[in-house]
Amino acid sequence: MIVFLNGEFLPVEQAHVSVLDRGFIFGDGIYEVIPAYNGKLLRLEQHLTRLKNNLDAIRLTDAVSDMQWEPVLKELLSRNEPGDMGVYLHVTRGVAPRDHTLPDGVSATIFAMCNPIAPPARDLKNKGVAAITLEDSRWKNCHIKAISLLPNILLRQQAIDAGAVEAILIRDDEATEGAASNVFIVKENVLITPPKGPFLLPGITRDLVLELAAKNNVLHEERTIKASELHNADEIWLTSSTKEILPVTQLDGKPVGDGSPGPQWLKMFTLFQDYKSKV
Ligand code: PDD
Repeated sequence: MIVFLNGEFLPVEQAHVSVLDRGFIFGDGIYEVIPAYNGKLLRLEQHLTRLKNNLDAIRLTDAVSDMQWEPVLKELLSRNEPGDMGVYLHVTRGVAPRDHTLPDGVSATIFAMCNPIAPPARDLKNKGVAAITLEDSRWKNCHIKAISLLPNILLRQQAIDAGAVEAILIRDDEATEGAASNVFIVKENVLITPPKGPFLLPGITRDLVLELAAKNNVLHEERTIKASELHNADEIWLTSSTKEILPVTQLDGKPVGDGSPGPQWLKMFTLFQDYKSKV
């Protein structure tokens, strides 16, 4: 596997970062995951806009202002195996003596790699996946795609330990998102997802699903989802760059709707695959 680190393409075994890197010491950095289908990056512009917003949010924009992302990502893809990839991009505040104060004159650490993403499994259409609800124990800046993911990791693992694949997070009696995905429900043929704000990541897949809904006359709303609405939904979906659109057919051990992926999911899944194939 070839990775990109601070201007160089290297075999992963030769890519090294200092133990004083603020990413390692503080989790002081942000990241992106961009899906690429046969070398074509999906929604690159939107991902790079979000990257820029994240760099602004953590006051790191100037440190990477020279970076030309697109040629680097394309070269990275061409230097690795063909196939569908999740391109992982990671920027930290760089190497400095340990001090909470932001250091002056430090170069950011810039890292990128690709990991294969599996196409949605065939039996997904028949079965869907299980999720559980958990209290959203994260901070109030969840719109920042921060590399410090300890709460998300622990929440996801609690879901795995319960035999589910994802935790759907509840804050003040409202569903926010999954531990690593956005959440949608369908009620009486209306697609509903929580509005953007500090309690969830503005997912690129989420936006694409809303765009496809608008273009294809699917009724949709961006509004808060009460925990009780989540539990009474006809359908629940999770979206992310690596999961695409995943139907949740069991929530907290009970069937969602009739317990199989719903008709609205199948419609959106088909629209999404069609969009992907035209990239
Ligand atoms: N995670 N919310 C959270 C907390 C996420 O971590 C992710 C994605 C999403 C979906 O965003 P997008 O559609 O832009 O992928 C929502 C990535 C895939 C990850 O951490 O690997």
